[in-house]
Amino acid sequence: MRHRVVPFLALSAFFVSPADAQRALAIADYALPETGAVAVAVRQGVPDEGAFAALDQRSGGALRRAVRTAGFLGDRGTVLNLPGVGPYDQVLLVGTGSDPVTPRLLEDVGGLVGQAGVLSAAPEITLLWPEAGMPTAGAHLALGASLGQYTFRQYKTPKPAAPVLGQGTLTVRVVDAGAASAAWRSDWAHVAEGVRFARDLKTEPGNVIYPETFVERTREAFEGVRGVSIEVVDEARMRELGMGAMLSVGVGSAQPPKLLLVRYRGAGDAAPVAFVGKGITFDSGGISIKPADNMWRMKHDMAGAAAATGAVLALAKRGARVNAIAVAALAENMPDGEAARPGDVVRTLGGLTFENLNTDAEGRIVLVDAIAYVQRQDKPSMLIDIATLTGSQVTAVGDEYGGLFSRDDALVADLVAAGAASGEELWRLPLHPSYAKDLESPIADLRNVGSGGRAGAGLGAHFIGAWVDPAVRWAHIDMASMAWRDDAPLPTVPLGASAYGVRLFDRFVRDTIEAPKRAD
Ligand code: BES
Ligand code: ZN
Ligand code: ZN
Repeated sequence: MRHRVVPFLALSAFFVSPADAQRALAIADYALPETGAVAVAVRQGVPDEGAFAALDQRSGGALRRAVRTAGFLGDRGTVLNLPGVGPYDQVLLVGTGSDPVTPRLLEDVGGLVGQAGVLSAAPEITLLWPEAGMPTAGAHLALGASLGQYTFRQYKTPKPAAPVLGQGTLTVRVVDAGAASAAWRSDWAHVAEGVRFARDLKTEPGNVIYPETFVERTREAFEGVRGVSIEVVDEARMRELGMGAMLSVGVGSAQPPKLLLVRYRGAGDAAPVAFVGKGITFDSGGISIKPADNMWRMKHDMAGAAAATGAVLALAKRGARVNAIAVAALAENMPDGEAARPGDVVRTLGGLTFENLNTDAEGRIVLVDAIAYVQRQDKPSMLIDIATLTGSQVTAVGDEYGGLFSRDDALVADLVAAGAASGEELWRLPLHPSYAKDLESPIADLRNVGSGGRAGAGLGAHFIGAWVDPAVRWAHIDMASMAWRDDAPLPTVPLGASAYGVRLFDRFVRDTIEAPKRAD
């Protein structure tokens, strides 16, 4: 019998199958299958209980023997993948450790099964969850499975002789299938769709996704969704309005910049929350050009815009009781004869001028016109901007957290809590008033970079904050380290585009705007 203990940190090594198409997800009543592929969660120490005990009995004790031989302990986040156990083609054991059952834990279990399912030839995988405690458990397992089995292989030519992996169905079997499928269909499936939308846009290369196609994809995704209106500010309108910042970043590209606003109205006349995302569809650095190594990664420099738009897609599709606006500041940052020069002075929509000392610090530039515009048009009560803004954020906190900057302690607490609950975590970083000094310019109101070797992520945050109306509750999220999963997958985030921000914003809206202190 082949077996291996695969902690989720090592699963990436097996991500090689060319076969594509995701498994269809189903939620059904709890029943133990007689044969086929089954997945089951086990607690610390793999106690003889629940579905594990039943499967072990049906396999004549072979399952327990395999667990012992593999040294599998049920630690949280570990997977034991056993092909051929008694009457079963495959048994997947997912450790949950000693942690209490939360939506996040269930999503992680589903995610690990989803990831393993991508590598399995079983036509059907049954995920068993016999516990009755949480009626929506099945929906969270399905959400995790959907996120975990994400792949993007549109441009791979199928190899006819290759084994068919990762196709068929994944059925989640739970005690209350009725409640779980209702929660999945009306609610969590839309969160999964928001994530998929953002991942696809980030994975697509810069020759496919540029401002215009970002807008097209958004229009397609929101087609027929109730309560939504879409506005696009094009280059000509930007000139009329005086959006010098957006124009200065887009001018070096053959693809004109666009400011996209998706307004969702689900709460009458309440002042909206605005999610403003950096949408640089490719960041070459412009005239302050980046080194060639890894420059390709900058196709995902629109991750903030994808997160904001994906989150509002989820909110609108699930009919959230909120007024929310996604603002996507879309431009391509390219070097060219017409491109912005280091030293150029730019007048922005908000009225302030800045000196562009480094054209590679372009994210903050597009964001300030986007912020000024949405403040003027929509008078949001709260504004959260999100951006792959600085390498400095990556250095400061690594890929466990997004960097959170805000002077509003209550907003910080709510966002940090939403991060912990959703699994898209945040860590607060300082926004010291002294940063103003570092951004002083001799000839303009500000300059877009500091003197180097300083608090780079905080300086970026400070620059953006200079355009925020003091009456608006504001937070800035630097997600540079979180946009692309590189070394090790997380249960619900396979390698590649993460869609960080979608689940964070959805959770934030659930817990702090829709129904403070609700349970799931
Ligand atoms: N898009 C980059 C930041 C980035 C770095 C995102 C790594 C994702 C991963 C941004 O536009 C940039 O180039 N920032 C500069 C700012 C500097 C010139 C002040 C940086 O961080 O080096
Ligand atoms: Zn840049
Ligand atoms: Zn950038």
